Amino acid sequence: MKANQIDVVLGLQWGDEGKGKVVDVLSPDYKIVARFQGGPNAGHSLVFDGTAFVLHTVPSGIFREGTLNVIGNGVVIDPVILMEEIENIEARGVNVDGRLFISKRANLILPTHRALDAASESAMGKAKIGSTLKGIGPTYTDKAGRRGLRVGDILLPDFKERYEARKAAHLKTLAQYEGFELNIDEYEKRWLEAAEGLKRFELIDSEVFINHALDEGVPVLAEGAQGSLLDIDFGTYPYVTSSNTLSAGVCIGLGLAPSRIGKVYGIFKAYCTRVGSGPFPTELFDADGEQLRKIGHEYGATTGRPRRTGWLDMVALKYSVMMNGVTDLIMMKSDVMDGFDTIKVAVAYKTKDGQLLEDFPYDGGADIEPVYREFPGWKTSLGGMKCYNDFPQEFKDYINFIEDSTDCRIKIVSVGPDRVSTVVR
Ligand code: GDP
Ligand code: IMO
Ligand code: MG
Repeated sequence: MKANQIDVVLGLQWGDEGKGKVVDVLSPDYKIVARFQGGPNAGHSLVFDGTAFVLHTVPSGIFREGTLNVIGNGVVIDPVILMEEIENIEARGVNVDGRLFISKRANLILPTHRALDAASESAMGKAKIGSTLKGIGPTYTDKAGRRGLRVGDILLPDFKERYEARKAAHLKTLAQYEGFELNIDEYEKRWLEAAEGLKRFELIDSEVFINHALDEGVPVLAEGAQGSLLDIDFGTYPYVTSSNTLSAGVCIGLGLAPSRIGKVYGIFKAYCTRVGSGPFPTELFDADGEQLRKIGHEYGATTGRPRRTGWLDMVALKYSVMMNGVTDLIMMKSDVMDGFDTIKVAVAYKTKDGQLLEDFPYDGGADIEPVYREFPGWKTSLGGMKCYNDFPQEFKDYINFIEDSTDCRIKIVSVGPDRVSTVVR
């Protein structure tokens, strides 16, 4: 980490790369951890002291006593989900007071945003995005439409009226969806209570807070949600989320100048997964895919949906490394591939007319054949390994190949879900 710059952890694939684990592992080196985009569509798993914890809105530094946690302006917040999360954290004996800071500029996810998400997905039928149904798309739509409610509005005397006005507008839209039944009464009651409950925390101008902290040389880490291939501009559009998940999103999502970006830790799985619809060039529909899902426990941390699985895709990974300016790679879940005789990696895409593509295409590789390079499996349990020298040669060859193709060092290799199953080079 360089003084006066923020380091960034973000996902290079379609999310669920293991960002939560990595932020938890790195956070003792930082005083502040800040989320800059996304919302409760995220599910970040942390495993330590024999138990697992899933965070949706709260940054993954919350379990490190000395670390302050900031929810930045680029995040969208559902107060019900946030308050539930805080209760669960407190139930683990962790003190949150004075350690959780929320940007007044963060937009609020209303109960009717969730309803709009569900109505829109259901109306799209087969063409649906496969959204997490947390109201992410409709909330960012209202933000861009300059009519969203923000955390700072909770402090205004007419907050309830503002809420009712927005809800009324949403109800008009919802009425246009044929056969859609609205059932938000119970959720709305909890939502209004939870919104009031947020006043307990420090509602701040987080851009000022973080810029001042950096000026004073305080180490700050930004925590991404989702993954680069779900970025609204550069992901596999329209099968993406509604925020900028790339490192550039840190500038807008926290209010920092581009010159403030320091190290960019790009996280990827040793294979690929995706949950929801959209192109996935290396997707497997065979026993290998099933093995990855089974051994890797590839089920969504937010929705429980089975994740689609496939081989590592260098065309997509190189694109993500380029788009984020990744300085350090972190490879996750290598242990999941311990049992494979042969491991494949896509090194190019072949189009229908026989053209070879090495750059990630406009359509996200919707209609191509991956060109694979094969590697012999390492057939050794990586799980208990503590240092790079312990790794079998076949695994080192896999690492070297990825480093050569991306021109970037793999600085950390994760060999299990627990904090301690981490090899730092
Ligand atoms: P995130 O959204 O990027 O934080 O990732 P998720 O938490 O949604 O999904 C990652 C899953 O893999 C979680 O269940 C983690 O506990 C688990 N995990 C993380 N790193 C490793 C690893 O190196 N090996 C194995 N086997 N599991 C891991
Ligand atoms: P983390 O932070 C994996 C996917 C959804 C869907 C698309 C749009 O845990 O890596 P949305 O609810 O954002 O409108 O859904 O994006 N998606 C994720 N996939 N991990 C996530 O977060 C995701 N957040 C959204 O499955 O395909
Ligand atoms: Mg996740």
